[in-house]
Amino acid sequence: MDREQIINLLRECDSEKLKELYTRADEIRKQNVGDAVHLRGLIEISNICTRGCLYCNLHAGNKKIHRYRLEMQDVIESVNRAKIHGYKTIVLQAGEDRSADPAWITDIIKAIKSVDDFAVTLSLGEWEEDVYRMWKNAGADRCLLRFETSDEELFRKIHPGSKTHRLEMLDVIMSLGYEVGSGVMVGLPGQSFDTLADDLLMFKKLGLHMIGAGPYIAEPNTPLGQNPEKFMLDEDNQVPPTEEMAYKVYAITRILCPETNIPATTAVATLNPERGYENALACGANVIMPNISPARFREYYSLYPKKVCISETEKFHDKIKSRIVAAGRTVAAGRGDSVSFCHQINREVKYV
Ligand code: 5AD
Repeated sequence: MDREQIINLLRECDSEKLKELYTRADEIRKQNVGDAVHLRGLIEISNICTRGCLYCNLHAGNKKIHRYRLEMQDVIESVNRAKIHGYKTIVLQAGEDRSADPAWITDIIKAIKSVDDFAVTLSLGEWEEDVYRMWKNAGADRCLLRFETSDEELFRKIHPGSKTHRLEMLDVIMSLGYEVGSGVMVGLPGQSFDTLADDLLMFKKLGLHMIGAGPYIAEPNTPLGQNPEKFMLDEDNQVPPTEEMAYKVYAITRILCPETNIPATTAVATLNPERGYENALACGANVIMPNISPARFREYYSLYPKKVCISETEKFHDKIKSRIVAAGRTVAAGRGDSVSFCHQINREVKYV
């Protein structure tokens, strides 16, 4: 698929043509990664952030939210619940908390590994190579860092003070032996169809093992939420932040990167709590990341309004499994290492 074809698909409005796209992506998903849906337990370990990303409610300038950092006992309590629910991967996510000592994360990784043989994924933002090496040596397996947009000018505008280039950082993280994920927001003000096509081609070029994309959801407490017109392109070029655009992105991603892991994201479920996960699974996705943070902290990790997992109860963990089965898929029993990563390092691939 070349750039022009991608742009045409992103602009496609004909529902029959889109159905064809989703069906093709679904077949490619089945052939390459199978029917199993991998569940990852997500713990939001800190909402403290020293960065000022224009789209995110956790930005340092937001004085309205209560800031927290989880104690070890809260992390372990979440990990124990993940074990009960049968999750084999723990994802540690945080605001970019530069005031935290990286050794805090090292201790958490080791503690998780001592509970059970979990895969540990880090989603902690931009850190130095030495820090990522230390975390890898402590036992971390995977790393997520969305590059958000491949348009350098837009990236700089929405990430004031960013010194590192995330694309280069992804290479570094990959060279450390992590299974690496990245992704973008869909419909970010200032994102054109051409830019989004470049983002998709970048996924392929980087050889990512996981690719997460969610619709941009405007948050009124952020500079971007308050002044979108400063960034928005004309109607013909601006990508709309819709559910449908997210599905197109999942489908094209699956076609371009057949063996990668693609999560049905919380953002798409936020736009459509009833069917968002199922729709995403039907057009290329094969991963869901249920939130296992302690319930009393969840409201403080509100990246954007109405984030779906904030109101979920423990029942969600059973419900999501029956929803997966009702969608004609199976709940994975294994760790769900990315097929592309297994091939890269000659590890045996487990499709279940
Ligand atoms: N809308 C949608 N996604 C968002 N993220 C942050 N803020 C928003 C928002 N307003 C996404 C970013 C980040 C991930 C953790 O959450 O892509 O990488």
